[in-house]
Amino acid sequence: MNVKPGQLARRYRGDARSATCRRRVIGVTGALTALLTVMQVAATPGAAAPLRRPLGPGSVWDSVFTLAQAGRGESTFRATCASCHGDSLAGINDAPPLTGPVFHKTWDGNALSSLFNRISNDMPSDNPGTLTNPQVGELVAFVLKYNGYPAGKVELPSAAESLMQIKILPKP
Ligand code: HEC
Repeated sequence: MNVKPGQLARRYRGDARSATCRRRVIGVTGALTALLTVMQVAATPGAAAPLRRPLGPGSVWDSVFTLAQAGRGESTFRATCASCHGDSLAGINDAPPLTGPVFHKTWDGNALSSLFNRISNDMPSDNPGTLTNPQVGELVAFVLKYNGYPAGKVELPSAAESLMQIKILPKP
């Protein structure tokens, strides 16, 4: 083989280019394979639920509490909150309604964490700071159920940080 220096240099440059090219192709193929795998997993009925959870629900329409949790919240509400907010959550005197147009006017568009913190920090207004986090979670679940939002299979987390992505929204 009789190659002149110039040709050799060109040939090496060519090799380097095709190596970069190959790497890029592998990169794109890898990304596509990953994407296809995600799509396949998402399309498998059994795998849909565990995939959805880490992403988190986006609003109170995504069945974010359980009926049992709301039931425990109702007991606490009757014992601790109803004296001021009323049995039907309609509000009494300066204790505002926790349902109906007033509830929506105040809370629509807000994250569920705001409602959680409001109850956790300020309520019951005659004895604030006495509720445990699970109790507050249950109370939020009860308020949601009372306002017609759907229950689901997974309990609402009892920590404000976990509720920041869940928006209170009117019926779509
Ligand atoms: C002693 C009366 C009283 C009790 C008991 C009480 N609240 Fe309240 N609540 C109020 C008053 C008054 C306000 C409005 C003024 C304020 O924030 O202090 C209020 C405000 C609220 C708000 C904000 C409503 C809004 O639209 O701004 C929520 C939510 C709430 N209460 C939930 C509860 C829950 C849940 C309980 C039971 C753990 C409870 N409250 C117990 C008197 C009470």
